Amino acid sequence: MIYCPNMHKNKKLLIAANWKMTPPTIQEARKKALLFKGIAKGYQRAAKAKASLQVLVCPPYPFISEIREIFRNSPALVGAQDVSEHDGGSKTGEVASTMLQSLGVSHVVVGHSERRSAGDTDEVIAIKLGQVIRTNTQVILCIGETVRDEEGEYLNAIKAQLKAGLARLSNADFSRVIIAYEPVWAIGRTDNVALSGHDLHQMVIYIRKMLRDLYNDSIATATKILYGGSVTPDNAEDIVWNGEVDGLLIGRASFEANTYEAICKNIALPTHSSMIMREAAMRKMKTIKNNKTKPSVDKSKEKVVKGMKRVKKGKAVRSAVSKKTKTR
Ligand code: 13P
Repeated sequence: MIYCPNMHKNKKLLIAANWKMTPPTIQEARKKALLFKGIAKGYQRAAKAKASLQVLVCPPYPFISEIREIFRNSPALVGAQDVSEHDGGSKTGEVASTMLQSLGVSHVVVGHSERRSAGDTDEVIAIKLGQVIRTNTQVILCIGETVRDEEGEYLNAIKAQLKAGLARLSNADFSRVIIAYEPVWAIGRTDNVALSGHDLHQMVIYIRKMLRDLYNDSIATATKILYGGSVTPDNAEDIVWNGEVDGLLIGRASFEANTYEAICKNIALPTHSSMIMREAAMRKMKTIKNNKTKPSVDKSKEKVVKGMKRVKKGKAVRSAVSKKTKTR
């Protein structure tokens, strides 16, 4: 396990459920929404929890209104899976951001790979982002490479998606932007190919470096980053705590409320052994702080710090990842 500063913060993680095109009926959506409402209450401030969780459900458009009513006076939030690039008028089949806002939608997902493959270009995505920001709603911008190549070309693809997607925003708009890193090759897989927390952490460092290069330090630090792609109850704890993300965007594992709940439980109430490791690390940090002595170098921390320095020079992720792909 790598050293992980998030261990020391009791932060609020956004656990977004992308229901995609499920469930098939409003009756089932209602039942499911009631279960998610219960989960949201339970993990808002769970006793002994390492983090509080913010439950966000992104159902298909026709269910938004009713689910919003079910969630009223509860901590659960409702989001949308997409939005139109237009703000109204003769656009058959489209849904404007103002309409979503008027229903009480808190977050809108934009640039999901399943919308990109249905035709959304970077330019369209940038316009959609602007529409959501204009209506004072949070936007979740999805980015992610389709394949990983040994030369690290996919890192350029991520940079290009980030740059193009955010192109129309001003620095002030960033308080409403969340980035969801969803490697396309990891979405919807049944063979357990989600990134490990360690590999994800490299990507998170890379994305923050890109945000710093494109904007500034405070945007790079403050912008929330989620992970999506084959998250399960088994890998969620590693992904969140070692990956250093601010939450998850979950597809299939959110189709069943009990699977989603198992993910929440494993993140907020981590397993005994990892809790012991975290608590030992916290004790060590406290001792260092109290004694004001020079900390003895923790090997795993040293590794990450070295990694970050190399990322600043722009080469770490490329080498780390190409090493990984070679060993596959
Ligand atoms: P899976 O969790 O099914 O891989 O889907 C991820 C996703 O697309 C979330 O937006």
